[in-house]
Amino acid sequence: MLTLNLNGKDHSLDVPEDMPLLWAIRDVAGYSGTKFGCGMGLCGACTVHVDGQATRACVTPVSVAAGKKITTLEALHADPVGQALQAAWLELGVAQCGYCQGGQLMTATALLKGNPNPDEEQIESAMAGNVCRCGTYNRIRAAIQVAARKLREGKA
Ligand code: FES
Ligand code: FES
Repeated sequence: MLTLNLNGKDHSLDVPEDMPLLWAIRDVAGYSGTKFGCGMGLCGACTVHVDGQATRACVTPVSVAAGKKITTLEALHADPVGQALQAAWLELGVAQCGYCQGGQLMTATALLKGNPNPDEEQIESAMAGNVCRCGTYNRIRAAIQVAARKLREGKA
């Protein structure tokens, strides 16, 4: 039995220690906002925060995350940075099919929490591991800039 702190709540899960965190989150704890894409750490669809760090849940054993604070898309609205990004996503109509967007938002939130004023290159580099089949990259970058500006100006 492992205890995972998911979105501020402890969950006791009867799972093997080497189970990917993604399956524990989705299939056992029932938070389906975190998506399965490649399963190999290559697409970013499964991105969650582990102690504030953007982390690929598909290649992280659940035992590594036990005892740490895990945040998923479901709790992003409770974070001012996550909230500002979600609002900018809506304002700019970023999502197309939407499949990758949860992971994109999780990575973008970790970026702005660490760097409230990223330049284009820093945004590009932070988001490089999140793949979008629909090609929404330009709108994602623009939305990150909108959210960052509003947060800096206290308008988010
Ligand atoms: S599903 Fe984890 S990186 Fe693709
Ligand atoms: S919006 Fe479709 S994969 Fe990104």
